[in-house]
Amino acid sequence: MKVLVIGGGGREHAVVKALKTSPEITELYCLPGNGGIAMDATCVAGNPLDLDAVCAFAKAHEIGYAVVTPDDPLAAGLVDRLEAIGIPCFGPRQNAAVIESSKVFAKHLMAKYGIPTARCEVFDNYDSAVAYLKEAPAPIVVKADGLALGKGVIIAETREQAIEAVSDMMLSHRFGASGDRVVIEEFLEGPEVSVLAFTDGKTLVPMVASMDHKRALDGDKGLNTGGMGVIAPNPFYTEDVAKACMETIFLPTIRAMEKEGRPFRGCLYFGLMITKDGPKVIEYNCRFGDPETQVVLPLLKSDLFTVMRATTFGTLDTTEVTFSRDAACCVVLASQGYPGSYEKGKVIDIPQSVRDHVYVAGAALKDGALVTSGGRVLGCTATAPTLKEAVDAAYEIASHITFEGAHMRHDIGARALRAARE
Ligand code: AMP
Ligand code: GLY
Repeated sequence: MKVLVIGGGGREHAVVKALKTSPEITELYCLPGNGGIAMDATCVAGNPLDLDAVCAFAKAHEIGYAVVTPDDPLAAGLVDRLEAIGIPCFGPRQNAAVIESSKVFAKHLMAKYGIPTARCEVFDNYDSAVAYLKEAPAPIVVKADGLALGKGVIIAETREQAIEAVSDMMLSHRFGASGDRVVIEEFLEGPEVSVLAFTDGKTLVPMVASMDHKRALDGDKGLNTGGMGVIAPNPFYTEDVAKACMETIFLPTIRAMEKEGRPFRGCLYFGLMITKDGPKVIEYNCRFGDPETQVVLPLLKSDLFTVMRATTFGTLDTTEVTFSRDAACCVVLASQGYPGSYEKGKVIDIPQSVRDHVYVAGAALKDGALVTSGGRVLGCTATAPTLKEAVDAAYEIASHITFEGAHMRHDIGARALRAARE
C-alpha cells in the first residue's frame, strides 16, 4: 500500500522511520518532509494547509492511507477532506482536533466531565480579564485560546506581567484570532509527564510516558522552546500514577469526546502535572508530541502501521500494542540563537555510523549536502536497558555530529536520573 505522511519535522522523521519497517507499505511519501526524511521516504513539495492540493496529490498517487501528524492541518480538517475522497487516515477529524485547537473547549470539556485540571476562568473581554486579575493571586497562568506555535502560554510571576500578557493577546493581537479569548488559570506545581496514547475512540492504549525539556538552557533556564530533549520512561509516572491517570483522566476524556459526538481517533497527547492532589491535565494535544515521539516510537515493538490502522478502523481492543522495557533519550541539536533568530544554511555532517539514530527536524538538501533550515535541526536518539546508558549513548551520538553554531543542552535526563535515585 502507498502511504502518505503529512508534516516535516523530527516527529515525522520518527514516524517515517517506524513505518518504513512495515512489510505492507510499498511506497512511503512525506509532504513536505525535509532533507533528512528524504533519505527514508519520497518527499513531496507542498503546504499541508493547502487541503485541495494535498487531496489532489493523494488521489493522483493512489494513496491508500494517510498519517496526518501536525496540529494545524488537523485543526483545518485535512482528515475529514481525505476521508471524503475515500482515503482512511491516522488522526482525528476536525471536530475532535478541537481538543487542542481550542483551550476553551478543552477546559469546558474537563469541567463538564469532572476531569482534574487547573481551575480557570475564560474571558473574551479585556476589561473583565484585567478586573479578575486585580483580585487573583500570583503566580498565575495566561493562555491564548487557539493555536499559537507553542508560545501562547505565559506563566506570570506578578499581576502586572499577567495583565501585560492579556494586553498582548487581546489588544495587540500578538497571536491573531487565537488570542481573542484567553484562559486564566491557577498555577500548578509538580513534575510534568507527557503521555501519548493510541485511541480508536473507545479503547485507549497509553504509550511509554516521557519527560520533555522545554527550556533552551541547562538547569531549565532560558526561553521556552519546542523541546530540547526528552527521555522515556518518566520516573514520576509510577504504577499508582498511571492507574489514577487511566481512571480519572484518560478514559473519562475519550468517553467525554464520544458523548459530545466528537469521537477521538489517532494519538491523544496528555500533558500532565503530578500535583500533591494527584495528576491533573495541563494540556491536550490532538497528535504525537515533538520530540516525545522520537523516544516513544523507538520503544514500540509492535508494527506501527498495524496499530495506526486499528485506531482508524476501531479494532484497537483486539490489536497487540507492546513496548520494550528499555529506556530512550533524545538530545536535540539546535541552531545558534534558537528560539530567537538564527542563521540557516550551515552544512551538517552526520557520519554514516550514527545515521540510524538521527531524526532530522530542520534541515534541507542543497546541492546534495544537508544544511540547516530550522531552529531545532535534529535529534539524536538512543535506546538502552537503563536510562543512564540511553542518555550517555545519545550524547555520544551527538558528539559525532557537527555544524557551525550547534547548540544542545547538556542535562537532558538529569532530573529523571536524580528522581530515579531518590
Ligand atoms: P504548552 O506550551 O501549552 O505546552 O505549555 C507550556 C508549559 O507551561 C507547560 O509545559 C507547563 O510547564 C506550563 N504550564 C501550563 N499551564 C500551567 C499551569 N496551570 N500551572 C503551571 N504551569 C503551567
Ligand atoms: N513537546 C510538546 C508538544 O509536542 O506540544
